Parts: sequence; C-alpha cells; structure tokens
Amino acid sequence: MISFLWAEDENRLIGKDNDLPWRLPADLKYFKETTMGHAIVMGRKTYESIGRPLPGRTNIILTHDSNYKQEGCLVLNSKQELLNWAEQNDSEVFITGGSEIFKLFIDEVDQLYVTKIHATFEGDTYFPILNWDDWTLISEKKGLKDEKNPYDYFFQMYKRK
Ligand SMILES: NC(=O)c1ccc[n+]([C@@H]2O[C@H](COP(=O)([O-])OP(=O)(O)OC[C@H]3O[C@@H](n4cnc5c(N)ncnc54)[C@H](OP(=O)(O)O)[C@@H]3O)[C@@H](O)[C@H]2O)c1
Repeated sequence: MISFLWAEDENRLIGKDNDLPWRLPADLKYFKETTMGHAIVMGRKTYESIGRPLPGRTNIILTHDSNYKQEGCLVLNSKQELLNWAEQNDSEVFITGGSEIFKLFIDEVDQLYVTKIHATFEGDTYFPILNWDDWTLISEKKGLKDEKNPYDYFFQMYKRK
C-alpha cells in the first residue's frame, strides 16, 4: 500500500529553498510516530535537505543517478523500481516528498496523511493539485498550539474512494 505524508499551508506550499517553510516540531514528531518501522521514500533533493537517514525506517532515495550512494539508504532509480520494492517488502510505504516525487506517484497513492496548516508562508515548492472528491476523510485531529508550534493545524487522514 502506498501512502503520502506531507504538511502544506493554505496555498499547498510545502517547501522553500530546499527546506520547510515553517518550524513545527509537533509535526516532525507526528511524522516520526506515523512512519516508524516503515519505509520512507524521498526525492534526492529532500533527502539532501535532511542530510542523514532517519532511524528505525528503511530510507529510500529516488534519483536518476545510478552511481548515487548514501550510507544507510536504499537508492532506487525509477518509479517502477519503487513499486516493485513496495509490493515485495512492506505493507505500507510512505512517500514523503518532495513535490516531484508526489507528482510521480499521484495515480498510485491509496492513503493520504496531510498536516493542513491554517496559515500562509513564502516559498517555492507546492504539493500537486489533488481531486479531493476522490478522497474520504477518515480522521482529523487538531494539532497542539503553543509557543513552539504557533499555528492552527490539523492532522488529517484520507483513503481513496
Ligand atoms: N512540507 C512537506 O511535507 C515536505 C515534504 C518533503 C519535501 N518538502 C520540500 O520540498 C522541496 C523539495 O522538493 P522537490 O520537488 O524540489 O524535490 P524532490 O521531489 O525532493 O527531489 C527531486 C529529485 O528526485 C529525483 N527524481 C524525480 N523523479 C524521478 C524519477 N522518475 N526517477 C528517479 N528519480 C527521480 C531527481 O533526482 P536527481 O536530480 O538526483 O536525478 C529529482 O531531482 C524542499 O523544499 C523540501 O523541504 C516538503
């Protein structure tokens, strides 16, 4: 099963200068809890912005460069290689961005975990347009708002209809 996990602002913004546009540590905690024990799939640019494999998960990097290597990571070179790996290895594979990689799997994805931040930020990278009519909201939880997480935001989970 393929799931997407991401955070977006009110304009579908997800990135700025190859980093996140906001600081929201409670969302990083949610990311960790949700993906722990599973495979996480990142584009080469998102991986390099994190800069290290995330513990307790199979870290998969997608790149066109067949010589690319990162210690502690599995490197794959195409969408089909990832789909084959997912079918054989994991009950739930989390596609975790960025924009190019979300676009690549938009027709394959079965479940969405989205953090919707009720604010607008400056940036340069957007989540692709989804037809929300194809999706059923399964759960929604308001995120903790405090001095370290100073926004209204909601953790939503959807399944494809
Ligand atoms: N808010 C969020 O939830 C969230 C989540 C993730 C990322 N982000 C942000 O998104 C931004 C990065 O997104 P991005 O779209 O610029 O880059 P990206 O999707 O992270 O990575 C793009 C790279 O993926 C590889 N790739 C793309 N299509 C491929 C294919 N068909 N087969 C093999 N490899 C393929 C290519 O690597 P090569 O060039 O090496 O071939 C390409 O340059 C950053 O600002 C990051 O912080 C935000």
